[in-house]
Amino acid sequence: MYDKTDLNTIDLSLEPPLEEPARQYYFMAKCREWVLGFERKSGRRPTSKVVNFGCQMNARDSEKLAGILEKTGFMRADTEEADFVIYNTCTVRENADNKVFGRLGTLQQLKKKNPHMVIALCGCMMQEKPVVEKIKASYRFVDLIFGTHNLYRFAELAARVLDSDTMVTEMWEDTDRIVEELPVRRKYAFKSGVNIMSGCDNFCSYCIVPYVRGRERSREPEEILKEIRRLAADGVIEVMLLGQNVNSYGKNLKEPVTFAALLREVEKIEGIQRIRFMTSHPKDLSDELIGVMADSRKICRHLHLPLQSGSSRILKIMNRRYDKERYLELVEKLRNAVPDIALTTDIIVGFPGETEEDFEETMDVVRRVRFDSAFTFLYSKRTGTPAAVMDDQVPPDIAKERFGRLLREVQQAGAEKAAMLQGKTLPVLAEQINERDGRLLTGRLDNNSVVHFPGTPDMIGKIWNVQLSECKGFYYLGTLNEPV
Ligand code: SAH
Ligand code: SF4
Ligand code: F3S
Repeated sequence: MYDKTDLNTIDLSLEPPLEEPARQYYFMAKCREWVLGFERKSGRRPTSKVVNFGCQMNARDSEKLAGILEKTGFMRADTEEADFVIYNTCTVRENADNKVFGRLGTLQQLKKKNPHMVIALCGCMMQEKPVVEKIKASYRFVDLIFGTHNLYRFAELAARVLDSDTMVTEMWEDTDRIVEELPVRRKYAFKSGVNIMSGCDNFCSYCIVPYVRGRERSREPEEILKEIRRLAADGVIEVMLLGQNVNSYGKNLKEPVTFAALLREVEKIEGIQRIRFMTSHPKDLSDELIGVMADSRKICRHLHLPLQSGSSRILKIMNRRYDKERYLELVEKLRNAVPDIALTTDIIVGFPGETEEDFEETMDVVRRVRFDSAFTFLYSKRTGTPAAVMDDQVPPDIAKERFGRLLREVQQAGAEKAAMLQGKTLPVLAEQINERDGRLLTGRLDNNSVVHFPGTPDMIGKIWNVQLSECKGFYYLGTLNEPV
């Protein structure tokens, strides 16, 4: 139970230990010394802010960074007007990079007002050499840069930067390490993401993730279960198991385990009421998993199953290793086994060489499957991936026109699916006070749809029966259907 370590008991006159995570706790104690010094000098605790730009896995990493800062005594700031700001970046599409560079300008202004401010950049974008070179050359006000593989060393790097006037950088190409038991600060008290694996070995030809996240590594099932048991004891009722391709979980462990087998074990943990997971790759979706979903009382009736394209020809060039027929077959199997399952997806429009016929194949799948919702993306060229150098890049105006058509189709299907639940009474996990109207709570159905309903803050974190009185397209207005 390292995360319960009292930093005051660590003797800083000794050399830092070599083993992990003890070494990181030693450096947390070092950071704490700095924090207390800051407090003595300025009469207040220093503040910190972690900003996340990426996917759920990055969000979970951000909770670890925040956990470490909190453990060392930093106060949490609501905005980037703080003494220690970290941007945990994403680079999956070009606009993710642009967002970070845009916001760095604002940070520079803030640093002019607060010259002692520490600015740190980490995450997927920092695994790209040209990005780091650009920052080193033109963004000299950045104090610390590290990547995805050495995130567990944040305390050590922070201790170094707090003690230095020059930029600290540490980037690793890859790692085979998984360091357990670092502190975490959860965003929600009652639900949590749980990383079950990291990296990706699929090398879809458009995708940068395998290059910036490294090879696929699964955590030991016992470590995962231990973490979830602890979360349950701490009041968590919903877990989301996270990985770029959870369906291939456990294949490379010394004692291989299937994802379905892991889910069966998670199901047994008392206190956990809802289990979600993402992302599932269609090529590895097994009958065993479908069976576990059908039998489970806790696994949410929702599957995010990225399609990417409906054209078998494009899927082959994307290196997705399934075709249109196999995808449709999977959908049929899933719906037969779990009739009320909500299906959501990701689709890329304008992949190199995509013709009108290819795009029509995607539209055909969308019309046939009628997804509950879909994230649609314009193809974004990522340097270093095979697709970036393919001939026939689709002209932007054609891609945009197709994107518009797809979006309309997707939204129409989504609205129709949502309308089917109107009037029903279903369990809703109350998650937060409604951002616009303080008399309402906002929560989620098992299928992940959002519901707003009248309620009070003490109801947050529990599951309530709510009648979905009105469907508003993508969300519902509801009324509580049980005595409080
Ligand atoms: N591991 C997940 C996806 C992670 S990235 C999976 O395989 O399903 C999330 C989504 O971003 C992908 O599903 C894909 O639709 C989209 N994406 C990835 N690379 C992209 C690119 N170069 N251009 C546009 N969209 C991309
Ligand atoms: Fe990217 Fe494909 Fe891996 Fe998903 S499975 S992260 S799309 S390479
Ligand atoms: Fe982005 Fe990295 Fe996730 S590139 S999508 S934050 S794994």
